[in-house]
Amino acid sequence: MKTLVIKELRKRFGKAWALKNLNIELDRGEIFVLLGPNGAGKTTTLKLIAGLFHPTHGDIFIKGINLAKEPLKAKRLTGYIPDEPFIYNKLTGREFINFIAGIYKINKDQYESQMNLLLRKLDIGEWIDDFSETYSHGMKQKIIMCQLFLHNPDLILIDEPLVGLDPKSSKSVRETFLQLRTQGKTLFICTHTLSFAKEIASKIGIIHKGELSFIDTLSELSEISGEKDIEEIYLKLSQKDPVEPET
Ligand SMILES: Nc1ncnc2c1ncn2[C@@H]1O[C@H](COP(=O)(O)OP(=O)(O)O)[C@@H](O)[C@H]1O
Ligand SMILES: [Mg+2]
Repeated sequence: MKTLVIKELRKRFGKAWALKNLNIELDRGEIFVLLGPNGAGKTTTLKLIAGLFHPTHGDIFIKGINLAKEPLKAKRLTGYIPDEPFIYNKLTGREFINFIAGIYKINKDQYESQMNLLLRKLDIGEWIDDFSETYSHGMKQKIIMCQLFLHNPDLILIDEPLVGLDPKSSKSVRETFLQLRTQGKTLFICTHTLSFAKEIASKIGIIHKGELSFIDTLSELSEISGEKDIEEIYLKLSQKDPVEPET
C-alpha cells in the first residue's frame, strides 16, 4: 500500500489559488523533495497533508486512510516539522520533549535510550535544559525533530529543513533523514535548496505558482529537459505560468 496518495488537491485563499491540481503517490522508503521558489505553494501543500488546512478540492490518503474522513487516525501516522518551529518559551527543550511524549502517551523508558542517541546525533548539547526562548531557529528545529522519534510516524513532512542550520548540523540532519529512510519511513521535504535535493532525493517535484511542473527522478529530469544542470532546469521550469483552475 502507498504511504501517501494525493488526488487532485487544490487550495484557494479567497480568489487566489495557492495550489492548483496536485497528484502525488509515495511509497514506503521514499524521500520526496518538493522544490519551488518562494510563494510556490510548498508550505500550503505540507499543511494540507498535515491536516492543518482543509482542501478546497481533492483527497489525501495516508496508508489508505482518508484524511478528511478519519483525521485522527491519519494524523497519528504523520509527523510534521514546520518551517517556523514553535516551542513554548518557558519550557526547556527537555520539558518540551517530555510534554510531546505525554501527548502521544509514550512511556519514558520506551523512548529514553532512543532519545539520548538522537541528542548526540543532532549535536544537542546541555542547552537542552535552557528555556527555549534562548534558542536559535536551528536549535528549536532540532528539538522539534526529536518528536519524530517519539511517536514513530510512517510519513514525515518537513518544511525547509536547512533554514538556520550551520553546515555541521545540516550534515547531521541529512544523515538523520537517510537513516529514517532505511527504517522504511517516507519523507516529504519542501525546500528551495537545490543542492539538498540533489544529495538526498529519491524523487523530486518542482512546483511553481501552485502547479507541479515536474515529478520524477533527478536523472529523468535532466533527460527530459536536455539540461544537465539542475539549476538551469529549475529556472526553466519555474518560468512558464500555469493555467488557473475553474473550481
Ligand atoms: N493562510 C493563508 N492565507 C492566505 N494566503 C495564503 C495563506 N497561506 C499561504 N497563502 C498564499 O499561498 C501562496 C503559496 O504560499 P506558500 O504555500 O506559503 O508558499 P511557499 O511555501 O512555497 O513559499 C502564496 O501566494 C501565499 O501568499
Ligand atoms: Mg514555505
